[in-house]
Amino acid sequence: MYIRHCLSAAASLLLLLSSSSLIAESPAERARAEVEAAIHLESDLEAGRKSFMICTVCHRPEGWGTEDGIYPQIAGQLPGVIIKQLADIRARNRDNPTMLPFTSPQLLGGVQEIANVAAYISQLPMAPVNGVGPGIDLALGEQLYKDNCVDCHGDQGQGDEEDHIPLIQGQHYHYLLRQFQWIKMGKRRNADQKMVKQIQRFSGRDISAVLDYASRLKPPVEKLATPNWQNPDFPNYYRATPVPPRRHR
Ligand code: HEC
Ligand code: HEC
Repeated sequence: MYIRHCLSAAASLLLLLSSSSLIAESPAERARAEVEAAIHLESDLEAGRKSFMICTVCHRPEGWGTEDGIYPQIAGQLPGVIIKQLADIRARNRDNPTMLPFTSPQLLGGVQEIANVAAYISQLPMAPVNGVGPGIDLALGEQLYKDNCVDCHGDQGQGDEEDHIPLIQGQHYHYLLRQFQWIKMGKRRNADQKMVKQIQRFSGRDISAVLDYASRLKPPVEKLATPNWQNPDFPNYYRATPVPPRRHR
C-alpha cells in the first residue's frame, strides 16, 4: 500500500515536471515546434475543405477577405506561411483575439488539421480585384520596394515558401498597412527581426507609398479567379449581401 502510494506520488511529480517544462516553453518555441511538425505532413484537401468551414464565417468561402482590410485575403497564400500564422496565432505569438478561439485544438484540431486547411486555402484562386492605395506616390513606392523588399518578398511580391515569407501580391492595401505598422512598432511579435530593422527609418509617406505599390503587384493569371467566381465547394453558403461593387479610387 505504502509503496503504491509512493509510486503514484512519484508519477504525479513526473507529470508535474513534464507539464511545467511545457509551460516554460515560450510561445515562439511552441509555435516553431508545431510548424516543424505540420510542414512535413502529407495534406488531405478534402479534410482541409471540411476544416475550412469554420473559417468561412469571417474569411468567406472564397478566402478573399475584405477590401477595407479588416479581413485579409488568405486564398493563394503559401501553405508554409498559413501554417506558421496559424501556429503563431494559437500559441499567442501573434495577437489575433477575434480568430483565436477558432484556432483552438478543440475547434481546429492538431498539426494534421493545420496542414490540411493550409493546403486547401493555398490552392483557392485569388480575388480578381483587391483593395489598393490612393495611387499618388507609386514611383517612390516602386523605388522603396526595389531597395528594401525584393530580396525577401520577391520582385512580384510572391513570397518564399521555404523561409515562410508571405506572398503580399494582391493583398488588400489596408491590411498591408496595418500589418506593416504593427511590425514596425513591435506589436506583431512574430515579425521578422531583419525586416523590423530594415523599415525603421520609413516615414509615413514611405509606408503608404511602398504598400500602395505592393498592393498593385498582380498575382499571375493562373492564380487569379475569374470575375464573380464563387467557391463551388460551399454551394449552400448564405450570402446576405452581394459582392460589393468595385470602388473607384
Ligand atoms: C472570427 C473571425 C475569424 C475566423 C473565424 C477566422 N479568422 Fe483568420 N483572421 C481573422 C482576422 C480579423 C485576421 C487578421 C488579424 C490581423 O489584423 O492581424 C485573420 C488572419 C488570418 C491569417 C493571417 C493572414 C496573413 O496574411 O497574415 C490566416 C492565415 C488566417 N486568418 C487563417 C484562418 C483560418 C485557417 C481559419 C479557420 C480555421 C480562420 N482564419 C478563421 C478573422 C478570422
Ligand atoms: C529580411 C527579410 C524581409 C524584408 C527585407 C522585408 N520583409 Fe516583410 N516580412 C518578412 C517575413 C519573414 C514576414 C513574415 C513574418 C511572420 O512570420 O509573421 C514578413 C511580413 C510582412 C508583411 C505582413 C504580411 C502578412 O500577410 O501578414 C508585410 C505587409 C510585409 N512583410 C511587407 C514588407 C515590405 C513592404 C518590405 C519592404 C519595405 C518588407 N516587408 C521587407 C521578411 C522581410
